[in-house]
Amino acid sequence: MKDLIRDFTQAYGPSGNEDQIREVIRRAVEPLCDRVSTDALGNLIAFRQGRGEPVLRRRVMLAAHMDEIGLIVTHIDEQGFLRFAEVGGLSAHVLMGQRVVFGNGTEGSIGNERVDEIKDLKLDKMFIDIGARSAAEAREHVEVGDMAVYQRGVSEMGTRVAAKAMDDRIGCVVIAETLRRLGESPHDIHAVFTVQEEVGLRGARTSAFAVDPHFGLAFDVTGVGDTPRARSILNMELGKGACIKAKDASLVVPPAVKNLLVKTAKDNAIPYQLEVLPAGGTDTAAIQLTRSGVPAGCISIPTRYIHSPVELLDLGDVEACVALAVKVLQGPIEV
Ligand code: CO
Ligand code: ZN
Repeated sequence: MKDLIRDFTQAYGPSGNEDQIREVIRRAVEPLCDRVSTDALGNLIAFRQGRGEPVLRRRVMLAAHMDEIGLIVTHIDEQGFLRFAEVGGLSAHVLMGQRVVFGNGTEGSIGNERVDEIKDLKLDKMFIDIGARSAAEAREHVEVGDMAVYQRGVSEMGTRVAAKAMDDRIGCVVIAETLRRLGESPHDIHAVFTVQEEVGLRGARTSAFAVDPHFGLAFDVTGVGDTPRARSILNMELGKGACIKAKDASLVVPPAVKNLLVKTAKDNAIPYQLEVLPAGGTDTAAIQLTRSGVPAGCISIPTRYIHSPVELLDLGDVEACVALAVKVLQGPIEV
């Protein structure tokens, strides 16, 4: 699983520019399913036919977003500095001192204008320096509209791992591992690696319409309250198991779905914790609102420092998420 985490997090793929990460995921999941396809928006859909008792069969959509947050070039000045806007949620303070990389491999350092007070540092006072001496030289490498992402390797710290883009490549890892370990499942599974989640759950919306599932299950990171002077209103902690979502800012999980996940975790002694995330949304919301409505829930991976280049999580929690997904998909889904 560590190899998957490395391959998936290190690939380039900001929202709307998922070609590179899609190929990495395609190579990993192609041997694990019956058919792999890509739709018009770029979603990667891995289909696995149900085996066994057809009376139990449901069309199940799994979803994890493969896009990551990024920076998009808005203007190139005469000296070759690149001004940018955010793709997804970026903080100026987190960006200070970072290195970023474009899809073609062009690397840059983040610099900023002088500000008297650090609280005055906003994205419009920052720029990307790719080492160019002029606009013309910069344009040999990048153009307005090109996107960059954090450039940062993976740190392994015992059972804990830190990397950029754990949001939501770790969800993609959970789905890939689930497909690998699933064995017999009565259900037709459409595992969708969605695009453009960070800019409005856009890939999940179109793919859920196409799949038309009886049941949806998304996998994404969630915030935790277990660091010094953190927001103590949060229940989630690293190392306490899979998070079963009750609510976030984009949705409420139907009690029948939440209860199915909780019962499955209890019956199989899988560590879990209940999740309420007051801010932030997930692909689950888009799946729920498809056509005339779809019962859908979310298994979340507790993660520190979300949307930074050092997103940190515990492999034990990832294992719990995989175990829970496998057991849910092996049993009857009556919601
Ligand atoms: Co995110
Ligand atoms: Zn996410």
